[in-house]
Amino acid sequence: MKVAYVTGGTKGIGLAVVKSLLENGYRVAFSGRSASSVQKAAEGLTMYTDQFLGIISDVRIYDQESSAVNKIVTEWGRLDIVVANAGLGHFAPIDEMSLDQWNDVIDVNLTGVFHTVKASVEALKKSKGYIFTVASLAGTNFFAKGGAYNASKFGLVGFTQAIMLDLRKYGIKTTTLMPGSVATHFNNNIPGPKDDWKIQPEDLGQMVVDLLALPSRTLPSKVEIRPTIPPSKK
Ligand SMILES: NC(=O)c1ccc[n+]([C@@H]2O[C@H](COP(=O)([O-])OP(=O)(O)OC[C@H]3O[C@@H](n4cnc5c(N)ncnc54)[C@H](OP(=O)(O)O)[C@@H]3O)[C@@H](O)[C@H]2O)c1
Repeated sequence: MKVAYVTGGTKGIGLAVVKSLLENGYRVAFSGRSASSVQKAAEGLTMYTDQFLGIISDVRIYDQESSAVNKIVTEWGRLDIVVANAGLGHFAPIDEMSLDQWNDVIDVNLTGVFHTVKASVEALKKSKGYIFTVASLAGTNFFAKGGAYNASKFGLVGFTQAIMLDLRKYGIKTTTLMPGSVATHFNNNIPGPKDDWKIQPEDLGQMVVDLLALPSRTLPSKVEIRPTIPPSKK
């Protein structure tokens, strides 16, 4: 049975990817920052007992990511798929953006992904594994108040494309997913009917499983994903 690790798997896109991988027969470890969020997500997965592992780990702290990966390999003997998804956003014009906001966004969205990949890479060499990073269309389209978020996601796209080139010689595939608006809790959103036009988290779960099913010779390195019919800006 192949083994996956999804960071930030307690809600939103991460939780949907966790569910999709479980439905498709993978063993799945997922992380979040707190015992309560990990426990809450686990309560919704009880039909998959013994197939999943909830881990408390903050991607900002390398030692926690390293321990998370060691725990997975100790438990299941291998690691095949990493979905570096944990992320957040603070949006403010530069004159109002605080140092804490800047550091939080860069530490989670960019350095956090580096920590997860760095901790996983030797296990992925053994399995000829697959790394997904969850960037954003904000990694190619900039906007006002996006200084920190755009910087983190432009950086993440660059990081992911560079490591794709480093790692493909080991048979490791690396894909950057770049979604537009997704109906999640991102930026304090409460998902509801107003979000029906957006990409739904389960669509990205399906996308991960579909990409994993591609022949090993073929590597979509960067995938932009948009809502088909966004609201009119008139
Ligand atoms: N929603 C969108 O429109 C959209 C569009 C493009 C890209 N994205 C990207 O998609 C990814 C997932 O976001 P989402 O929309 O699913 O948001 P979400 O519903 O707010 O979920 C965010 C997840 O990240 C986790 N997380 C946050 N900081 C963490 C840290 N330091 N260590 C470990 N886990 C952490 C949270 O877990 P805990 O709270 O349990 O710690 C939660 O599981 C992010 O990278 C985001 O930038 C989102």
